[in-house]
Amino acid sequence: MREPDSETEVFKPFAWAGDALELIDQRLLPHTESWLRCESADAVAQAITDMVVRGAPAIGIAAAYGMALAAARGELEQCAPKLRAARPTAVNLMWAIDRVLARCGPSFEPDVVLAEAHAIAAEDLAQNRAMAKHGAAVIGGPARIYTHCNTGALATGGLGTALGVVQQLHANGDLLHAYAGETRPWLQGARLTAWELQRAGIAHQLVVDSAAASLMAQGQVDWVIVGADRITANGDVFNKIGTYSLAVLARHHGLRFMVAAPTSTIDLDAKNGDDIAIEQRPGDEVTRLAGQQIAPADTQAWNPVFDRTPYSLIDAIVTEDGQWQPQLDPAEIPPLS
Ligand code: MRU
Repeated sequence: MREPDSETEVFKPFAWAGDALELIDQRLLPHTESWLRCESADAVAQAITDMVVRGAPAIGIAAAYGMALAAARGELEQCAPKLRAARPTAVNLMWAIDRVLARCGPSFEPDVVLAEAHAIAAEDLAQNRAMAKHGAAVIGGPARIYTHCNTGALATGGLGTALGVVQQLHANGDLLHAYAGETRPWLQGARLTAWELQRAGIAHQLVVDSAAASLMAQGQVDWVIVGADRITANGDVFNKIGTYSLAVLARHHGLRFMVAAPTSTIDLDAKNGDDIAIEQRPGDEVTRLAGQQIAPADTQAWNPVFDRTPYSLIDAIVTEDGQWQPQLDPAEIPPLS
């Protein structure tokens, strides 16, 4: 394993190599730790689409470095649309590209673009550190946590969002137990969150998604904490498929539900979730498992990557600035269509 960043002592899923972006290949974890070298913006866009790198903030950071590679070739404006299209639901991707374009002026000096990419990455880590403290403060004491997907260092510029809150609770001595939902079909929970928790020395149990209801019914969970790929102005949260089910379950069982996400995930241009298209991924992510066909040949699958959780099911949205309130009067929030 690559050594943690010496300055910050945290693991990051990306490394700038001077003339290329290196990404830990998250498709191969936890069994193989291999780094993929991307020498062009096209290669970064492909890596994002193929989920070599995933998690909304990490996608945004990778795209910013992709812009730096494009700027070095004088192709920045042509490359931006390809990067935007690589995974369109996560708003951090558009946010990072827009920020690079806005801050770097019309000449797009490669050094300036690269400095902006480094700044986006460093700020994300600092924001995660602040968010972790705010999230733990909102919980306010010992708690048993259920988390979904992977929201740790692998998904961000370091530490993580929801998993950062879990780690902060652990550091405070307040983490009574951690449950990681396996997160079908891509198994981010089983493959990535379990790997990160193990590396952090945090005791945890892996839970099949369909066991979450029974676990909650047995009184084993106090808070569900998840990340987000996009939060609209009214507080609707787009996150990994299965998040909505967990929010419904949490409300049914009288548990609390927290979303931890940096402000770069908040899309104030979207009044609510009605206009947000959710990516579909290939059906073979569902019909196959670890490269092996598990459903009858030619089975078609419905494979939305994310779902929409209405703010009415969420107890707290926590950012680097503390608890965030939706921008609209709840009375104006339209029902889910
Ligand atoms: O499809 P993925 O693995 O990119 O989905 C990731 C999630 O849904 C995360 O919860 C979200 O990006 C927030 S991670 C800090």
